[in-house]
Amino acid sequence: MTDLAGRFRKLWDEIAPVGRDSGSGGYLRYALTEPELRLRGWFRDQAAHRGMPVVEDGNGNLFAWWGDPEAGDAVLTGSHFDSVPHGGAYDGPLGIVSAFLAVDELRAADVTPTRPVVVGAFVEEEGGRFGVPCLGSRLLTGALPAERAAVLRDAAGVSFAEALGHAPAGARPELLARFRSFVELHVEQGRALAETPSPVAVASAIWPHGRWRFDFTGEGNHAGTTRMADRRDPMLTYAFTVLAANKEARLRGAHATVGRVSVEPNATNAIPSRVSGWLDARAAEPDTLSGLVEAVHDKAVERARRDGTAVTLTEESATSLVAFDGGLAERLARLLDAPVLPTGAGHDAGVLSGHLPTAMLFVRNPSGVSHSPAESATDEDCAAGVVALARVLAELAC
Ligand code: GLV
Ligand code: MN
Ligand code: MN
Ligand code: MN
Repeated sequence: MTDLAGRFRKLWDEIAPVGRDSGSGGYLRYALTEPELRLRGWFRDQAAHRGMPVVEDGNGNLFAWWGDPEAGDAVLTGSHFDSVPHGGAYDGPLGIVSAFLAVDELRAADVTPTRPVVVGAFVEEEGGRFGVPCLGSRLLTGALPAERAAVLRDAAGVSFAEALGHAPAGARPELLARFRSFVELHVEQGRALAETPSPVAVASAIWPHGRWRFDFTGEGNHAGTTRMADRRDPMLTYAFTVLAANKEARLRGAHATVGRVSVEPNATNAIPSRVSGWLDARAAEPDTLSGLVEAVHDKAVERARRDGTAVTLTEESATSLVAFDGGLAERLARLLDAPVLPTGAGHDAGVLSGHLPTAMLFVRNPSGVSHSPAESATDEDCAAGVVALARVLAELAC
């Protein structure tokens, strides 16, 4: 093991147990819950240990400054701590741990940036607790108004403002203006690098994507006494819609997933009165995505007519196509001799890219699996990611 891979492992082991489920081995690190608050405490300790003052933006996002926090022209790097339910170890925290280690690398090499380097931790990137992904970066940039974010509620009815301890501050243009660029390092979430000799890639684009809730309503009734012909069963309409989403996505070369469902009354011996299913849909082109959602909705409505049920569709979040700054991506790809790839996953980098030159680095994931405990990265590849990030920071901040 190289020295840097060993240092990576040592720092990584400090956070690895936090929020890990002993059964699945996956992580439960919802934003602003105990495990994530512990990681935020760890972030402050790491920053203090390096003499980096931490600025909180009033929205739950943390920024640790190497350099004068009042100075502008800073290069921002970092990612998020929160996870999807039973998610992997790397999605998010890898970008933060790598950022602190990249600062250490630059300091050890006596590199003195002429601009501040800032390590950031964004809140609620996954939308796992309050339903809106990239909540922290959307607030910081003003993409989501503070009043709307304040009243988002988790499954227990706790609002975002309550979890934060105060109303979110919303857009902070003067803070945003102090950043000249953002680079988010992230574990690769598919197989694109698994069979290549490259431990690191540069991102070109993020597919447009969104979340839609289908609410199917029918008539709750007795499972034993209700004749089959008399039923108005929303579970049937739901099931048909899931199959339709899969088929329509395949036909279009897009991605569609229904990974969350709720059923009322959720009893084995009752025909449900209501089923809600959340569709996550993504495609390379915006028209393909809107065509996909429309086609699934049309099929659901037609099927509902046959089932005697009703269906409504609500868009819960939408993210447009993100094309990262092409000049910056090319420059970094040349610097690192790394391939350039698009991704179907959403990131705070996508939100910030509308406001400042933004790039992403991906670290190889041999399992090709993400949003699951099987997500993986070797210590050596993580060390290669740190070296790449340090080179990029030196390039952008010196
Ligand atoms: C977040 O990771 C997403 O792409 O859903
Ligand atoms: Mn994720
Ligand atoms: Mn992530
Ligand atoms: Mn993400």
